[in-house]
Formats: sequence, C-alpha cells, structure tokens
Amino acid sequence: MKNLTLLLILFLGFSACKQVEKKAVHIEKEYYGTTKEGKEVDRYTLSNDSGMKVHIITFGGIITHLYVPNATGGLNDVVLGCDSLSDYEKGSPYFGALIGRYGNRIADGTFTLDDQTYSLVQNDGKNHLHGGTKGFDKVVWDASSRIENGKAVLQLNYLSKDMEEGYPGNLNTEVTYTLSKANILEVSYRATTDKKTVLNLTQHAYFNLSGTADILNHELKLNAPHYLPVDETLIPTGEIASVAGTPFDFTSFKAIGRDIKKEDIQLERGLGYDHCWVLDDSNKGLRSAAILQEVNSGIQLEVFTDQPAIQFYSGNFLDGTNPMKQSDSFYNYRSGLCLETQHFPNSPNQASFPSTELSPGEVYSTKTQFKFTLIN
Ligand code: BGC
Repeated sequence: MKNLTLLLILFLGFSACKQVEKKAVHIEKEYYGTTKEGKEVDRYTLSNDSGMKVHIITFGGIITHLYVPNATGGLNDVVLGCDSLSDYEKGSPYFGALIGRYGNRIADGTFTLDDQTYSLVQNDGKNHLHGGTKGFDKVVWDASSRIENGKAVLQLNYLSKDMEEGYPGNLNTEVTYTLSKANILEVSYRATTDKKTVLNLTQHAYFNLSGTADILNHELKLNAPHYLPVDETLIPTGEIASVAGTPFDFTSFKAIGRDIKKEDIQLERGLGYDHCWVLDDSNKGLRSAAILQEVNSGIQLEVFTDQPAIQFYSGNFLDGTNPMKQSDSFYNYRSGLCLETQHFPNSPNQASFPSTELSPGEVYSTKTQFKFTLIN
C-alpha cells in the first residue's frame, strides 16, 4: 500500500512536470496578408512563459517583432520592422529577413564555377547584394510548426529553382526557427543542390535593444581578432587584418559610437561599420561570436554561431525614409544594427577565403543562436 501511494505521488508529480513543460512554449498561426502576386502569407508567433515572443511571417521568413524581458519587468521589441506586408513588399532594407542565396556582396555580380561563368543582377552599384532582386527575403516560404523537446519550432521550406536570380542548381532550402524556454532563438539552415553552386545564408535582423534613436550607446564585444578591409564598393580586398590598435577592435566591450567618427579610410568607405569580422576559430563549432548590451534596458544579446565570420553593420544606410512600425516617425541613421553570421563576402571570387561551394550529395548545415538575458 505504502509503495502504491509512493508510485501515485511519483506519477502525479511526473504528470505535473510534463504539463508545466508542455505549457512552457506556445505557437500561434494567423493570416497576415496576401502578396501582390496573390500568395497568402501567414504570421507565426512563438512565445515562452519567460515572456519572450517572436512574430515571424512566411514572406521572407521575416522576424517582424521580437519581444524580450527588460530590467524593469517589461518587454522591449528589440528589432526594426514594418507595419504591413505591402511595406515589406515595397522593399525595406532587409528588415528582419532571411538572406539568400548569397548574403552580402559578390563583386561585379559574377563568379565562375568549373569553368562556367555565371552572371547575377548588379543591384548594389556594380556588385550583387543579398541574393538579387527577388532574394530569399522576398519569397513566400512553406511553413509548418510543432512543439519538440519543449521548444517551439517553425520550419520554413523553399525550393529555389535552377538559375533563379542567376544561381545554378535546384536548391532545396530549409530554415528552422526554434524558441526555447531559456530565451534562445535559434536559426538553423539546411540546403541541398542538384548542381554545383555557391551559398551563404544569413538572418538580417536590425537590433535596437532600447528603442532609442540610434545604437551608438550600445556596447559591443566581438570575439574576432581580425576583420576584412574593403575597397570603395565594400568588396573585401583579400587582406585579413588585425583589429589591434584600430577602430575595429571590439575584442573587449566598447560603445559603438566611441570610435565610429574617427578618421579612418575603412570607416569612411563603410560610412561607419559595415565589415566582416573573422571569428576566433580556437573553438570551432557553435561558439560565442558577439555580445551586445544596452544599459538602460538592461538587455544583453549574445550571438552564437558555427559560421566563420560575422558582418557587423551599424545601420549607416538608414536614412529616415522607412516608416517606423507602430509609430508616425521614421527609422533614422543608425537606429538599428545587424549582426549577420556568415561566410566572407565575395568568397566565390576570392580563392584564399573559406569555400562557399555546395555540390550535389553535400548538405549545407549551419546554425546561429540569439540568446537574450539581462546584463549581470
Ligand atoms: C550590408 C550593407 C547593406 C545592408 C542593406 C548589410 O548586410 O552589409 O552594406 O547596405 O545590408 O540593408
């Protein structure tokens, strides 16, 4: 009898735990809008009982809102975005979007693979930027969601057809957003091709942890002792330069605004920070790449990735023309910053950079995590 009571207590305790675990994350789906081409777009909301909530739409896999707990017990929406599908369709500066097939620039919009030269659209002066005119940020992804191992999972799939935007190979792409109870939003990428191609996928969220006019007071640390200097058109020169003694040294916490106005040819070319930092590879695999802090909100964002580099872009091309969501004002110069985990820009034309080629039979598989905590 005693044993039976004990068993009953254990069983009830176990079921209660299971219930708590089941309820710790949530997923909702609703209609968001219809594209100009007549495709329906849904909005998924992943949330957890720690207060974190993220809205993601199937158009571009865009993170439209990302609410995280601040130090005073409230929630801050820490990403820039638009209010409607038509605003996103008109073309935002890639607010919150998935970027593909190639994040950042390919020089002169061309590259050669196995003696075959491919031509891409030159949508950034003479260069190709972020996958072209209709990159992965502007397509409607197939979506399915589930709760798995106590985490909220949104799986997005897109088949990019052979020669879409000029890239070879039918590319089966899968991007999975996963929200955990511990306020980690993970983005994992998987792709296969039926023809040799190049690939560099990333996420283009613009962060502002406090909602202030600009991000110059945010403190940033990058676990990167080197960065890639660029030419006048923001194509890496090929040099892998040490950050020591330069405004590009973020190896310990530094306010973004501290050195941004210093006289420096690289800052001049980028109009601020718009460069690729080469991550410290001493611990390959998923590792801490960047930590961003904002003291007034008390929010800290730590970015983990298995990618070789991170593009830190200080929002230098934001020019007051993009309407601010849920507001009558506009996003101004440097009102958000991007931390884009990726391979080096223009790798297809730079033999000394890590390869971005993907061949039939190989699986492209990479992962990035955005972890939100309070500054301690
Ligand atoms: C690039 C910038 C570009 C911006 C577009 C960033 O990833 O580094 O040069 O202007 O995307 O929004």
